[in-house]
Parts: sequence; structure tokens; C-alpha cells
Amino acid sequence: MKSIFALLPGILLLFTACSVNKLQSQASSNARTLTVDAETSRAAIQPTMYGIFFEDINFAADGGLYAEMVKNRSFEFTLPKTGWLEPNSDRWSMNEGSGIGAVVKEDRSGKKANYLKVIVKGDKYQLLNEGFRGMGVVAGQQYDLTLQAAVQAGNISGITAQIVDGAGKVVGQATLSVSGSAWKTYEAVISVAETVEKAQLKLTFTGKGEIDLDMISLFPQDTWKGRKKGMRKDLVQLLDDLQPGFLRFPGGCIVEGRTLDRRYQWKKTVGPVEDREFLINRWNTEFDHRPTPDYYQSFGLGFFEYFQLSEDMGAEPLPILSCGMACQFNTGELVPMDELGPYIDDALDLIEFANGAVNTEWGKLRSDMGHPEPFNLKYIGVGNEQWGEDYIERYKVFDAAIKSKYPDITVVSGSGPFPDGEMFEYGMEELTKLNAELVDEHYYRSPEWFRQNATRYDDYDRNGPKIFAGEYAAQSVAIASPDNKNNWECALSEAAYMTGMERNADIVVMTSYAPLMAHAEGWQWTPDMIWFNNLSAYGTANYYVQKMYANHPGTDLLSITEAGKALTGQNDLYASAVRNAATNELIIKLVNTGAKAQELSINIKGAKANGTVKTLTMVSDALDAVNSFEEPTKISPVAGQAEVSKGMLNTSLPGYAFVLYTVKLQ
Ligand code: AHR
Repeated sequence: MKSIFALLPGILLLFTACSVNKLQSQASSNARTLTVDAETSRAAIQPTMYGIFFEDINFAADGGLYAEMVKNRSFEFTLPKTGWLEPNSDRWSMNEGSGIGAVVKEDRSGKKANYLKVIVKGDKYQLLNEGFRGMGVVAGQQYDLTLQAAVQAGNISGITAQIVDGAGKVVGQATLSVSGSAWKTYEAVISVAETVEKAQLKLTFTGKGEIDLDMISLFPQDTWKGRKKGMRKDLVQLLDDLQPGFLRFPGGCIVEGRTLDRRYQWKKTVGPVEDREFLINRWNTEFDHRPTPDYYQSFGLGFFEYFQLSEDMGAEPLPILSCGMACQFNTGELVPMDELGPYIDDALDLIEFANGAVNTEWGKLRSDMGHPEPFNLKYIGVGNEQWGEDYIERYKVFDAAIKSKYPDITVVSGSGPFPDGEMFEYGMEELTKLNAELVDEHYYRSPEWFRQNATRYDDYDRNGPKIFAGEYAAQSVAIASPDNKNNWECALSEAAYMTGMERNADIVVMTSYAPLMAHAEGWQWTPDMIWFNNLSAYGTANYYVQKMYANHPGTDLLSITEAGKALTGQNDLYASAVRNAATNELIIKLVNTGAKAQELSINIKGAKANGTVKTLTMVSDALDAVNSFEEPTKISPVAGQAEVSKGMLNTSLPGYAFVLYTVKLQ
């Protein structure tokens, strides 16, 4: 006979198993029961539902996406030598051996253009470009150097271009032979031996005399799709990974300008790059707390490139144009109604540029730039964040002109900078009366606001305009405060809010977080979805929330309810559900904004579901946690699994979590 001690492990095992079973059954009896109707499509989810808002703010274009590494390459800044250093020049005595550069204004090839006239008195003279807070170069990579030069006097026969680190050490170099007094373009490839985050480009000269220089440019060869003088590959990759439904460009307030003559004019951003006029970036001194006086727009990233990028990513292009009103937070300068003609022509010509036949004026330019096929533009935005009667008056004229020539183009109108209040109410009312098709709403609000407003669209007029939530982001401190953080509380609150947009996908057809990108040293506005420096980039927690939605938009909206009611924050729970008809998958998004885990039994009705469920979980118990260059994916989706049995999915949703379930339907 076995002693009681010999039987103990078995008894313990039995006891433990009973306890676990008991806990599980207790858990399920405490669980909240949700029901998904997987059979009835409540609305088609538009492929444009989750997209990208791009604006050249925070060095997002020059110094960011546009991979040019030389700042002020053609000496066009207001102070034309901005970005250029001449460490050994002695402007007072011009010592033997030194030299000096002076900017000359001259009408070259019909465009206003500056160039630099350099007087070289000997081999001490150096011309350096500091880049955009330095230049990021990577060991083993090749860089394309190009410049225009004309030797005007003396015996200058060569230019040596060196990439140097902070201590002046050369990490790559090439020498160009130069000759002749006519302008010529010279090119060289520089191979880099060491990775440097803050390199500079140094030019020195062989011989003495006078040489004119212009368009001094340095690009990595390893760009997005390997395009010459193209875009930064790592940054575009982050955008492409979102699988965006649309790309809105070029902003934002940059469209409007602080004054009308500084508005964004797309026609000045197309054609040969060297002919594109520079413009002061409107964000350069907008905020006293983040002045960036060296922030200009070279327009190397112009409208052709935006269309091409949209095409690359399979995103619908959505250009927004000035409607003849400068930023109302600045001057509010207005074009008189009887002088709106050129602004309307800009809109009509843009449609021709994007879609017109190659024998039309603007279609031909698109073709000459390398894209004879149309870009299939379907949307155009009239004004950015305008408000009041002046806007409505102008919008009407644009809408009529666009629709009469291009009835199939959807015109996007704006409702101002705020999601409520007098300006918003007025704009919405007027636009509804005018049967506006798609209205852009903006909301920069606290995380609480996002959690409390998941029902925002539930009562919107189903016969009114469709909604484009064109700019939104939770602000951890206050609108555009420099102390705002891309923390988990903000991202989680946005995830909760987005269930509300998704539940209303019958009227909310486009959404985008804003702003998109920020250079860690060149930013003006925070929070931003992606942060980068000259070598690397990371997506914030907000980026990964956007990615979870954008990678799983589904095709059909389903209902997910508790006791017949949508989940809009009751006991901290938010939910939405969609079906992907192409893959026959049910996608459930659940957000728990509370600290405690929640036990859930999800009853899937109207379709058979059994087996493994794929999960993606974003979770952190620290609401102030952020991603960073050091920990770029600290808060990001982690893949896992759950089980569905006979249509019942029992799950424990962690506290402060956003979980996405993909259930294969049979
Ligand atoms: O996203 C930053 C700015 O916020 C946009 O330019 C403007 O539209 C809004 O006020």
C-alpha cells in the first residue's frame, strides 16, 4: 500500500487543476459579453479611411523626406550665405592664402537666382556647408555630389569636396576638374568610410583666382526606389508601412502662408529643380519658443514628387490649395472676390497637370517630367483651416468652377481649426446647405477629450457631407505646447477615439493624424507621428496605433455591442469590428483605457468561427511611456494568439491596452 506522501503530488495536481478550472469559470462568469454581428454589413469601409497628412513643418521636407544634404544649395535664403561657413577667410585683409565668397544676384536662365563668387587667394580658403543640423552619412554608402561652376579668372583647375566629421576628419572625398568661364555642371561620387551623424561638406580649391558656384548639392545614392536626388528611404519606408489610403499634401497652414505672397503655389514647385524658387518656410519663426530662422522650402519635393509618392504607396493623392485667404491666425489677408481668377486657375490647372492628356499644357509638363500616364487625381481641397463668411463665399466659387469642368472630382472643404464652437457650427451649417461633399475637420485636443468623444459621429446627419478627419492628435499638455509628448496615454486615447470613427465609417471616409514628421533638432510643433535625426527614425506609439488601423481597415463595417449598445467607453471599454471580404476575416479592435484587465466573452454571430485567432497587442502600464531613438519600438504591436471555439472568443484584455483580433471566418 502506498503511503499518503507518495500520493501527495497527484492530490496536489488534482487540487490545482480544480482551482484553475474554477478560476476560469469564475472569470467567464464575471466576463462582459460582447456580440459581433458578422453577417450584416452596416457600411462599406472606404479604402481611403486611414491616410497620411504631410506638411513641411518640423523639417519634414527640406532636412527630412527630401534627401538633399546641403542647406541653401543655391544661396537663395534671405541671408544668402546662411548655412555656409568660411572658417579661414579674412574679409578685412584677404590675406595671401585665404579667400572669400560673395553672393551675386543675377538673372540666370530667366529666373531670379543668386550664386556665389569665390575669390581664392591660396590653399587656406575653405567653404563648408553645415547641412540640416549636420549631415548624416553612413559607412560604405555612396553620395552624389553635383555643382555648377564657372571659372572667371586665374588658374583654378580643381575643387576637392570632402565629407568631414565634427573634428574635421575626412571620411570621404572626391576631386572635380573645372575649367572654362561658361557655367557647367560637375558631378562626382563620394564613398564614405565612417558613419557620422553630423558631418559637413567642405570644398577647397586647386589654384588661385575667381570661380562662380551654384546648386551645390549632395544626396545619398541609397534613396527611396533608388531615384536620383530622391527621398530618404528610411522615412518613406515608415510611411509606406502604414499602407495609407491617401496622401494629403502639402499641409496644413503652409498652404495658406502667413501672407498671401508666401502661400504655397504648386506651379512654382514643378519643372526643373534648379528653376524652383525658394520660399521662407512659414513655420520658421511662427513660435517664439522654437524659432528656426534657417527653415526654407527649396521645393525639391514638389507637387510632381508628391503625386509620385502617392502612386508609389498606392495612396490617393489629395492636394490642398490656397483659396485666396492667408492664415487667419496670422494676417488673414484676403484676395478680393473679383481677383480670385488666378487661384481658381491654379486648381483647374492642377487637375490638368495630374490627369490631363499629354497634349494639354499641364499634362505635357507632367509627361516631360517623366510621367506620361495620368496620376488619376480624384480629390482636391479648397483652403486649409479657413473659417467664416469669407471662406464660404470663396469656396462656392471654387466648387462651381471645379465641378463645371471636372464633375467627377471630389471637392474637399474645411470647417476651420476647431471641432466645435461658433466657427465650426457656422461652417458646417453653411457647407451642409451647399451640399458640400467632404468636409475636413481638425482637432488638437486633450487625451480626455479623445476618450470622451468616441460618440462624436454617432448623431451626425447621414444625409449631410461626408467627413474627412484631416488633422487630429491628442495633446498631452496644450495645443502645440513644446512640452507635449507622444506618450502612451495620448496614443491609447486616439486608439479609443478611432473606434468611434470606424463605427461611423458610413460618413467618416478619410482620417489622418497630424503633424506627420519632426526632426529631433529642427522641430517647431509637437507631438508628431514620426521622429527622425540625420541617420535614423522611429515611429511613436501614435504611429503604431495608426498602423494597426491602417493595416487592418477591412471592407465592411460590422456591429459589436454589449447589451445592444455600442462600446464607447462604458467601464473604459471601446470597440469596433469590421470584416475583410477579400480574406473572409473578422477584425475586432478593442481598447481598454482603464488600469484593470477586463475579461470578455465575444460572441460571434452570423458566421462560423473556430480555431486560432491572431492578436496584436499594444500595452504599457506606464501612461507616460514613449518610444525614442534608443527604444524605438518600446510601445508597438506584439503578435500573439487566442482561441475561438464555436463562435465564442474568451479573452482577457489587459489594462491600458489596444488589442486587435483577426478571426478567420469559415
Ligand atoms: O499640423 C500643424 C498645423 O495645425 C497645421 O498646419 C494646421 O492646419 C493646424 O493648425
